[in-house]
Amino acid sequence: MLNRIKLQICGVFCFRDDGVDFYMAKNKILLAGATGYLGTFITNELVEKEYDVKIIVRNKEKVDLEAQNLTILEAQVTQPETLEGVCKNIDVVISTVGITRQKDGLTYMDVDFQSNVNLIDEAKKEGVKKFIYISVLNGEKLRHLKICEAKEKLGDYLKLSGMDYCIIRPNGFFSDMKEFLNMAKTGKVYLFGDGRLKLNPIHGKDLAKEVANAIRNDKKEINIGGPDLLSQNEIAELALRAYEKPMKIIHLPDWIRKLALWSVRTFTSVKTYGPIEFFMTTMVMDMEAPKFGNYKLEDFFYDEATDYK
Ligand SMILES: NC(=O)c1ccc[n+]([C@@H]2O[C@H](COP(=O)([O-])OP(=O)(O)OC[C@H]3O[C@@H](n4cnc5c(N)ncnc54)[C@H](OP(=O)(O)O)[C@@H]3O)[C@@H](O)[C@H]2O)c1
Repeated sequence: MLNRIKLQICGVFCFRDDGVDFYMAKNKILLAGATGYLGTFITNELVEKEYDVKIIVRNKEKVDLEAQNLTILEAQVTQPETLEGVCKNIDVVISTVGITRQKDGLTYMDVDFQSNVNLIDEAKKEGVKKFIYISVLNGEKLRHLKICEAKEKLGDYLKLSGMDYCIIRPNGFFSDMKEFLNMAKTGKVYLFGDGRLKLNPIHGKDLAKEVANAIRNDKKEINIGGPDLLSQNEIAELALRAYEKPMKIIHLPDWIRKLALWSVRTFTSVKTYGPIEFFMTTMVMDMEAPKFGNYKLEDFFYDEATDYK
């Protein structure tokens, strides 16, 4: 029966239900956040897949790629007037814009929420069909944390935008696991609790592949992690082994974490404590997501440690 090939019209895209897809038109993609860890991998992935790619950055000098199908524009997502027209003729907008390490003195509400609202409004005005947003794993359960409050509020706004959408909720990136390496370099890794809680962090390249796949599938929300579910103790061991250090893992009692969390919340502003409270809260949670990709944390640690040596 000719492999049950059935065409489904989904926005401007066509799918066959045997998983093979093809285009009605060559898709034009706008990416915001292209200069970040994940954004760099997504840019490469989209260029390789021969999409017509436009990226908006605040400093063109940070982009280390030239390609015929890549246009680089300077715009400032926090200033909506600079976004005017950037979504013209665009089919899909992807945003990875968010604060990971505080550097501009802005809040999550300013960046993770408002900047992305500016993009959504501009996309909607120009008739963009789909908006893909990178949120965070377990954000719905952690709305009481400043970062998740902003990201979930953005998710709510996106769902009501009328555009097709996909909210991608990744586990920690390999780039963030460098905190384990930084400790391992000194010969000791400190963990809160017994270190048995598990997570499956993901490499930016594996995640970028799934973000690109989201352009053409109709999933609305995707929880995603890497291929290996590891306990914090196992991650600490991998980091120490990468630096050829003896296994020295110090387990700190949870009251120290609670006291530190209380102190940063009490004595610093939200700009400072936002990233710290997220880290300190997820350190005492199992963070398991559906497994994707091939990259191993062990290899990443080994490469990072070799570069350092
Ligand atoms: N890292 C993780 O473990 C992790 C885990 C789950 C979800 N996420 C989410 O995934 C997304 C991407 O993470 P990432 O690690 O790739 O982050 P990243 O490397 O810090 O990149 C963030 C991007 O956002 C842009 N940005 C930040 N503040 C801005 C501002 N005030 N104005 C304009 N642009 C601004 C940055 O531009 P510049 O390069 O110009 O600064 C950069 O392109 C974030 O939303 C993050 O919350 C991250």
